[in-house]
Amino acid sequence: MYDPEVLRSLHVSRYKSEPEIFAAPGRVNLIGEHTDYAEGFVMPAAIDFATLAGISPRDDGKIVIYSENFKEERVFDARSLPKSGSKDWSDYPLGAMVMLAGEGHRIPGLSLSLLGDVPLGSGLSSSAAVEVATALAVTSLVGVDYARPKLARLCQRAENEFVGANCGIMDQFISANGAEDHALLLDCRDLSFRLAPIPANVALVIANTMVKHSVAGGEYTTRRAEVEEAAAVIARHRPEVRFLRDATVEDLHKWGAEMSPNALKRARHVITENTRTVAAADALIDHDLKELGRLMAEAHVSYSQDFEASCVEADTMVMLAHSQPGLIGARLTGGGFGGCTINLVEQGKANEFRDGLAASYASETGIVPQIHVCHASSGAHRVIASLSH
Ligand code: GLA
Repeated sequence: MYDPEVLRSLHVSRYKSEPEIFAAPGRVNLIGEHTDYAEGFVMPAAIDFATLAGISPRDDGKIVIYSENFKEERVFDARSLPKSGSKDWSDYPLGAMVMLAGEGHRIPGLSLSLLGDVPLGSGLSSSAAVEVATALAVTSLVGVDYARPKLARLCQRAENEFVGANCGIMDQFISANGAEDHALLLDCRDLSFRLAPIPANVALVIANTMVKHSVAGGEYTTRRAEVEEAAAVIARHRPEVRFLRDATVEDLHKWGAEMSPNALKRARHVITENTRTVAAADALIDHDLKELGRLMAEAHVSYSQDFEASCVEADTMVMLAHSQPGLIGARLTGGGFGGCTINLVEQGKANEFRDGLAASYASETGIVPQIHVCHASSGAHRVIASLSH
């Protein structure tokens, strides 16, 4: 995470006022992919890459948003906010404000500056980090205190309704609720969760394939539609099944022939992934790292072959991980079609693992990857109080 002092001084020099500063992390998902919008289970962890948001009030009725990453500023009128996004980076912070306005809060004039180190387009939820940091900053300015699950829902709606990306709840939830040194098993039906400690001798090694990923892209939406098609077929026979969370492999044996071949495969991934995700949380809690690694390997095969959300580079990165020292488990993480792999690695071998994987991936693909040894971090929080208070 960037030093908050960097953001503070750029905010003060641009806007001549002391900001309150908030941070919201990106995330890595250990297991449970494309299960969140099927009301299933996911097990992400917040990571030590984050977006910082600095906020201060203005008296001219303007909403001014500056991104240090894009080195651009956008200006809006607080009394007439747009109804939908304009395919711009500002959609994410603005979307969070528009949703808050929709909840009946009057959004005052404000200056918001953003600075983040979550790599963009790499499946580590840079957009959720911006939304959650902004929502926390603006609720604080307005003087309301949202419970974290509610804050996460609001940010998911910003993404669904304002940005126009049909994501589930996972990314915003973990960014708002992450816990240091823990993964979080989330039941996406009722947002109840269980924390699973990540042992001190286990490193989270995140390997970027450098293939760009986007939730707004067509493939994510197509997969979601296929998952929903499968659920609708099962519901014709078992009306109590509204989401694949409630379906079984047996349902697929009985009625899979009524689905398109793709819907059948996608459903098989989602149904088996839900079972694996709950089992993986148990394995982590029981310190059964061998079982956890086995479940991650199985999850990758299912994601690649049944869900067809991998790519040659991600399959190569996972395959090569298996010949590096200290590997516990590896799989493609996040929405798919590029982005990063998550590798659980014995802490003492993490650097050796990182260097070996980087070299073999570069020689195999010709692409120089970025590989980060991360650790599970806390969720969104206030960083420093305004010095003027
Ligand atoms: C993206 C979405 C999430 C989730 C994952 C896949 O990260 O934003 O809601 O669906 O993909 O597990």
